[in-house]
Amino acid sequence: MKGVILAGGLGTRLRPLTSVTNKHLLAVYDKPMIYYPIQCLLNAGVNEILIVTGGEHAGDFLKLLGNGKSLGIKELHYTYQEGEGGIADALKLAEDFADGEKIIVVLGDNIIEKDIKRAVGDFFTQSSGAKILLKEVDDPQRFGVVRFENDRVVEILEKPENPPSNFAVTGIYMYDNDVFEIARTLKPSARGELEITDVNNAYIARGDLTYETLDGWWTDAGTFESLYRAAKLVVEGGANRCSGVNPRREVGAGAGS
Ligand code: G1P
Repeated sequence: MKGVILAGGLGTRLRPLTSVTNKHLLAVYDKPMIYYPIQCLLNAGVNEILIVTGGEHAGDFLKLLGNGKSLGIKELHYTYQEGEGGIADALKLAEDFADGEKIIVVLGDNIIEKDIKRAVGDFFTQSSGAKILLKEVDDPQRFGVVRFENDRVVEILEKPENPPSNFAVTGIYMYDNDVFEIARTLKPSARGELEITDVNNAYIARGDLTYETLDGWWTDAGTFESLYRAAKLVVEGGANRCSGVNPRREVGAGAGS
C-alpha cells in the first residue's frame, strides 16, 4: 500500500507563524509537524510516500526532507496543489502515484500516539472500499462526526452544530482506487472546498466503508490551541517518533509502537 500525506493549505489559523513557512513544517516540540505523519506511515510498513503540498513555501519541504532517505523513506515523491480546493481536491493529484493500488491518506497535521499497523493490515485484506479511523472526543463540532445506527456508520457530518455522536473522523483514511473516480464527482461545499467527508459518504452510500477506533491519543495541530496540545501530548505521552533523525531520543521514548 502507498501513503499520501496532505500538507497543503495556507494555514491561516496559525498566522503569523505560517507567513514564513508551511504549517506542516512548524515545530511540534522538537520535530517539524510533518515528521509525525511520516513516522505513522513508516511504522505501518508504508515506505512509498507522496507529499501533496501547495502555497508559497512548498520549497521548504525539499530543503527539510530531501529524498527522504535520512528518515527511512524508500521513495519520496512530491506534488503541488494549486489554489485552495480542499482535501479531496488535493487527493486527486495522487492518482498517478497510486497507480491502481490502495492508498492510505494522512492529513499532515494529525498526530497519534500509537501505531496503526493492525488497521492497515485489516484494510489490506478488505477486498474493496474504504476504512476510516475514529476517536471519541470532547469537542466533536470541530471535526467530521459519525452517526451510528446499530454500530454501523450511516452518515458523516462535517463540523455539525449538533453532533450525532462524540466520535470524530480522524485524518487517517484508507481507500481503494475508486477514490479518484469518486473525487471527480464531488461538488464544492459551502466553504468552497471538495470535502473528504463527501468522499467518505460516497463510500457509505455504496455500503463499502469500514471503521476502527484509534487506540491512544490523537490530535490535530492546525490552531494555536491544538498545536500547543500536540506538543504537550508528545512531551508527556510519547508519540510516533522519527527514529532516523534523532536516535538518542528513541531510547525509552514510550511511543507505544
Ligand atoms: C478535516 C476534515 C474533518 C476531520 C479533520 C481531522 O478538517 O474535514 O472531517 O475530522 O480534518 O483532522 P479540517 O482540518 O479541514 O478542518
